Amino acid sequence: MITINEHYKKLQASYLFSDIAKRVAAHQQAHPDQRIIKLGIGDVTKPLPTACIEAFHQAVDEMGREESFRGYGPEQGYPFLRESIAKHDFQDRGATISADEIFVSDGAKCDTGNIQELFSTDIVVAIPDPVYPVYLDTNVMAGRTGTYENGRYSGVVYLESLRENNFIPALPATPVDLIYLCFPNNPTGSTISRAELQTWVDYARDNRALILFDAAYEAFIRDESLPKSIFELDGAEEVAIEFRSFSKSGGFTGTRCAYTVVPKACMAYDSSGKPQSLHDLWHRRHSTKFNGVSYPVQRAAEALYSANGKRQAKELIEYYLDNAALIRTAMTELGYACVGGDHSPYIWIEGRGDSWQFFDRLLQQAGVVCTPGAGFGKCGAGYIRLSAFNSRENVEEAMERIKQSFG
Ligand code: MLT
Repeated sequence: MITINEHYKKLQASYLFSDIAKRVAAHQQAHPDQRIIKLGIGDVTKPLPTACIEAFHQAVDEMGREESFRGYGPEQGYPFLRESIAKHDFQDRGATISADEIFVSDGAKCDTGNIQELFSTDIVVAIPDPVYPVYLDTNVMAGRTGTYENGRYSGVVYLESLRENNFIPALPATPVDLIYLCFPNNPTGSTISRAELQTWVDYARDNRALILFDAAYEAFIRDESLPKSIFELDGAEEVAIEFRSFSKSGGFTGTRCAYTVVPKACMAYDSSGKPQSLHDLWHRRHSTKFNGVSYPVQRAAEALYSANGKRQAKELIEYYLDNAALIRTAMTELGYACVGGDHSPYIWIEGRGDSWQFFDRLLQQAGVVCTPGAGFGKCGAGYIRLSAFNSRENVEEAMERIKQSFG
């Protein structure tokens, strides 16, 4: 008899964003004439930068000629892309990351989900609340949690991010082995200072723990004093793995390209307490289960590091940040306490009551889709998240509709 992985039965019925999409589709069916404006899932709307399109076209043409055709590429990514990443994203900012510590992939969602298979099932995992649901759900699937009750899985150490702590969780009160951090944060949009992040690095070093640092939104940081990478901090290369994505920084949500940095100095321990290289383990996993990102996509990603590509990507980011400012101002004027939006495409808005009710009200009365905070964890229950990824016209109209319905 074939039996299932019982841990899947502990999961909530469906993935947050699929659940929202279903509710929105049902509402649209009931109101076919309403033009719904989606400020829910963080999905980009502006086209790819011209520099990427040109590189894409050129690479496709190369694939059409016998002399420049390419079959399987290196699983970890082509050297041209890994070298550009190492130089521009790390070495130029003083972080000693080399090209062979970069693993190119098709998404940070997959990488943050897949990385946990390198670790034993009996480690203690610390997960922020609210949180990008992938970190938690993949640990549930792997059997690292108990059952779900009152909005919490037993066995998980929750790192609460609330208004009281400025949405930066305190260090865990009990020992943990694996820590997920994301800054600029999804969903709250909060940022962390160098000094604050250093306390996490020091904690991990003192406790032989590991930090999984999700920096998918680093491109939105405007304040140069904030860290873009955890590897800008002392000693992080021994205790951290970082995830980056071109989805939000270059408009690649539909193109798919991301990367994970696993420094060679980063260790976890075997059952006898002997250090083991996480770089070697991830390399082994990557080459066994992945055949690399397509050549034209990697060329398009490389183009983001050219002078034109950098300028065009910056314009994209500024466009979305201007949307974020509009949203934050409008919601603040309506009397809602807001965080995020200044170094992030997300605005985290304190509602007045249950977040799913707020979601329903926004959809019914204004035809605007948000993400209910409860979907990100118990601490999100009183909040909603609005995303700045949409056209200026749609953001302006959404704010106008919200003002009319809620003002
Ligand atoms: C979000 O809306 O939180 C993100 O778009 C989800 C993702 O990047 O997978």
